[in-house]
Amino acid sequence: MKKWSLVIGASRGIGKAAALQLAKSYPNDKILAVARNFSEATLSEFSGLNIIIMTLDIGNSESMTSIINLLQNAAVRFVIYAAVSLGFDFYNSTSEEFDRTMTINAKFPYFLCNLLIPYFFEDSKILFFVSKGCHSYLFNSPLFCISKAALYMVTQVLKKELQVPVGTLFPGVVKTEMLTEVNERIPGKELNYDTSLEPEVAARFIDFVLSAQVSANEFSAVEWSIYDRSHHDRWLAPGETIIENE
Ligand SMILES: NC(=O)c1ccc[n+]([C@@H]2O[C@H](COP(=O)([O-])OP(=O)(O)OC[C@H]3O[C@@H](n4cnc5c(N)ncnc54)[C@H](OP(=O)(O)O)[C@@H]3O)[C@@H](O)[C@H]2O)c1
Repeated sequence: MKKWSLVIGASRGIGKAAALQLAKSYPNDKILAVARNFSEATLSEFSGLNIIIMTLDIGNSESMTSIINLLQNAAVRFVIYAAVSLGFDFYNSTSEEFDRTMTINAKFPYFLCNLLIPYFFEDSKILFFVSKGCHSYLFNSPLFCISKAALYMVTQVLKKELQVPVGTLFPGVVKTEMLTEVNERIPGKELNYDTSLEPEVAARFIDFVLSAQVSANEFSAVEWSIYDRSHHDRWLAPGETIIENE
């Protein structure tokens, strides 16, 4: 049976780096890369690899049927949910934007994982990204934090309800478009770019956490943080270090 891995939010940032890393680590699988827009540069990075592009707006929850239809009889090895929306600030929030942000950050993955149940097998793992916005209010971003808190609870529900291991991972402060936008929202202060990580480093960490080096029990039991030194010797190259962003 053909094995697929799904990377939702794969056109840039951490999702794109994760799709490229999975294509290298699992050359016999197909990697489904989902996002609204793939730049020419990204398409050329993907070309020749086992990556299938799907252009989809997941702000519309109906769009998940396109993913299910494509899978047919395939088995799903990994789901990496990297899509994210920051949403508007408090004064510009609208009811429509509230619904859309909740759909992208929480409703879509909740129902997608439910629909994927028949496609999982014994090696499957589902991975979500957590951030400080899951637990506290940040950066002029009410809709982001409300929906990330909801996403966090989605992960807790899925951990109990699904037979498939569900993991949560904090990728660190990573140089992506989202980080640039977050920085623009912080009055008078910026996150430290000097110590922020390249998406490729986060992708290597993700690859390790998904690999057979991490048992299903260990995968689900802890919240994986890239800054936690206890696992660094299991995936960093000798002499390589990760400096925590302040
Ligand atoms: N970067 C950090 O420092 C950091 C820190 C902690 C946690 N995280 C978490 O890591 C994850 C990835 O973050 P990132 O920094 O890589 O974000 P990013 O660079 O903004 O990338 C977000 C991805 O989501 C896709 N996306 C957004 N809206 C979509 C929609 N409506 N339909 C389909 N795809 C959509 C984007 O593609 P299109 O725009 O092409 O649709 C893009 O591929 C997020 O969950 C984030 O909260 C990031």
